[in-house]
Amino acid sequence: MLTISSVFLSVLLASSMVSAAPLQARHAKGKVMMSTQNSAAASSAVGAAYFITNDPSGNAVIASSIGSDGQLTLQQATFSGGLGSHGGPGTGPDALFSQGAVKASPKGQIVATVNAGSNTISVFNIDPTNPTNLEMIGEPVGSGGEFPMSLAINQAGNMVCAVNGGFVNGVSCYSVDKTKGLVPIANTVRSLNLNQTTPATGPAGSVSHVIFNEANTQLIASVKGVPPTPGILAVWDIASDGSLSQDFTAVQPSTGGLLPFSMTVIPGKNAILATDAGDGVDVFDFNNPPAAGVATGNSSNLPIEGQGATCWSSFSQQTGNFYVTDIGTSEITEINVDDNLKPSIVTQYPQGNGSATIDNEIATVNQKDFLYVLAANASEVKVLSLNAPGKATALQTLSLAPVSKAGVTFSPDNIQGMTAFIKAT
Ligand SMILES: *[C@@H]1O[C@H](CO)[C@@H](O)[C@H](O)[C@H]1NC(C)=O
Ligand SMILES: *[C@@H]1O[C@H](CO)[C@@H](O)[C@H](O)[C@H]1NC(C)=O
Ligand SMILES: *[C@@H]1O[C@H](CO)[C@@H](O)[C@H](O)[C@H]1NC(C)=O
Ligand SMILES: *[C@@H]1O[C@H](CO)[C@@H](O)[C@H](O)[C@H]1NC(C)=O
Repeated sequence: MLTISSVFLSVLLASSMVSAAPLQARHAKGKVMMSTQNSAAASSAVGAAYFITNDPSGNAVIASSIGSDGQLTLQQATFSGGLGSHGGPGTGPDALFSQGAVKASPKGQIVATVNAGSNTISVFNIDPTNPTNLEMIGEPVGSGGEFPMSLAINQAGNMVCAVNGGFVNGVSCYSVDKTKGLVPIANTVRSLNLNQTTPATGPAGSVSHVIFNEANTQLIASVKGVPPTPGILAVWDIASDGSLSQDFTAVQPSTGGLLPFSMTVIPGKNAILATDAGDGVDVFDFNNPPAAGVATGNSSNLPIEGQGATCWSSFSQQTGNFYVTDIGTSEITEINVDDNLKPSIVTQYPQGNGSATIDNEIATVNQKDFLYVLAANASEVKVLSLNAPGKATALQTLSLAPVSKAGVTFSPDNIQGMTAFIKAT
């Protein structure tokens, strides 16, 4: 299909003398190639990893191809037709205080992103032969609130839910129409009733992340506390028509938990490991229904000594462990959760002081897991090979310098998100 954006792309490839500023404006909904030398890596790719620029001048999804060795090659920027934003009052990386700002679905063959500065969500089709090549479907849709900062996609890949963290906060869900784009699902706009601002104020008291539970029967949003009051997980039941229960159940972390941030499902346990920016990680045991909104059963809190702010997490099928990142110490901490939901620290992997490790994602390539970490302040992506439990090794440091060289505006303070797509074999 010949679209306006592919015409722009051909023009761009034919010309090496396009200046950066007008490019950004012209490509508000188009594509920019990072380098014309990378096409071999694109065609042999097993998948792609994506993060967003979240730039207030125009948000773009930055796609890198994943090679059969797990390594990344920068390929394409796809503008989302919306704007990024930065929460206050501080500056610096982690502009959205969130995990899941951009999310890929292998089943749905889509990528969705928030546009926090436009209060919209955009969805793209993934080209199955070249997963770094994205094509926007339809137009960006209203997020059902303000400052959307995280997205979840169900297992079937046909339902997308967003959480808004601004003055008008709460969740909203959409079905995915492969020609029209995102279509709002009735009775899914649900408030979190937070006293927030647009842009959001944080990190204390800000919204963090939205996920589906493992059974896809509940939608769960995490909210950080305002010390000394702990935050919550807000849990809505999903009905068969996709609608959400009117009210949420608030689940508090165990004693010690304070600022629940990212949530990662603990497979087969009806439980969640949440990072806790206040002290480490929280385990939420959903088999023991919360009494009076307080986590019960084998829920627990595990402090990580010397931590700064532990905020992002992912799970490795291959090692069976969780990997959490800390923006303050730039350490990756590997965590094991045993059969009784008891968490323990396996080991830590320093990534360089000041690199500010934020969002991370794990992808399985030929039965081997690789960890992709956005080291925002260093404008790099760190790639680790997860060889065995406790035995991760550094594989690659991907510089993001080619992104600005290609004329795409990005700043270490605004980039956010990390999600991956692996081709079906
Ligand atoms: C909301 O937060 C603002 C700023 O902290 C505060 O001044 C105001 O009193 C709060 N409003 C409510 C209803 O709690
Ligand atoms: C918690 O884990 C222990 C084992 O450590 C187990 O015996 C117990 O049944 C679990 N409790 C609940 C409430 O699930
Ligand atoms: C990183 O920072 C920590 C804490 O400030 C310090 O102990 C450590 O020596 C630093 N490491 C490097 C390599 O600079
Ligand atoms: C980012 O880098 C700058 C300069 O290299 C440093 O001063 C700052 O502390 C770093 N920020 C974070 C969050 O690591």
